[in-house]
Amino acid sequence: MRLFIMPDPHSATRFAANEIASLMIERPNPVLGLATGRTMEGVYRALCGMHREEGLDFSTTTSFNLDEYVGLSAADPCSYHHYMNALLFNHVNSRPDAIHLPAGDAPDLDAECTAYEESIRASGGIDLQLLGIGDTGHIGFNEPPSPFDSRTRCVTLNQKTRIQNAAMFGGNPDAVPTRALTMGVGTILEARQLLLLALGQSKAAIIAKALEGPVGPQVSASAIRLHRQCTVILDEASASALSAETRGQALFQAN
Ligand code: GLP
Repeated sequence: MRLFIMPDPHSATRFAANEIASLMIERPNPVLGLATGRTMEGVYRALCGMHREEGLDFSTTTSFNLDEYVGLSAADPCSYHHYMNALLFNHVNSRPDAIHLPAGDAPDLDAECTAYEESIRASGGIDLQLLGIGDTGHIGFNEPPSPFDSRTRCVTLNQKTRIQNAAMFGGNPDAVPTRALTMGVGTILEARQLLLLALGQSKAAIIAKALEGPVGPQVSASAIRLHRQCTVILDEASASALSAETRGQALFQAN
């Protein structure tokens, strides 16, 4: 695992965006795994800027998002489809047929999940999977306990997660859907590279658990420690609960 502790959220976000852009430039037909949440907003802002000002080309990129709420259509303003269009796809030259998110309003959710796995496989697999982390330690929506060989499936959201994500639903946790479709931990671990970004003091405790606690299904983010090509980018605040030993392994630290 490569661990980077950056001085502030801006430099951490910029660094993550640069890692994604470098891969897009190096690979002829890159396949990106994308994530949602407040943490990623700055990453997409930076990528849009690189497209506008430096000509970063999205026309050869295929993307697969981690997850979507069950029951929400792509047009719903609370859906992750809507989030991705508003923050990234409407501003860059992605090919619409190369953009993939699980359909939360599919009539047969199991068939949708199987088809999603199949289309990741047909693309040749994900080159770089971007990850955030939730309060429950989830990556995607892999709530505890999520077996490390889990695949794309329908999950029930933890109440903590519904509270964490309530802001998108007018601040009301009860308005947050109870279920979601998410890539599994096993699906995520098959990506050739992982890139986890966490920002802010509110992530400090769960980051310490994920990076220093037991590796197991109770904290699905701990699974990234089993991956051979994993980069973790933190700001000072999200790294603040890490032990001196872990901090000592960071490749770049503030101060
Ligand atoms: C949601 C997403 C996760 C994301 C998490 C973090 O729950 N399903 O993939 O990591 O939000 O959200 P935030 O960045 O808003 O803290």
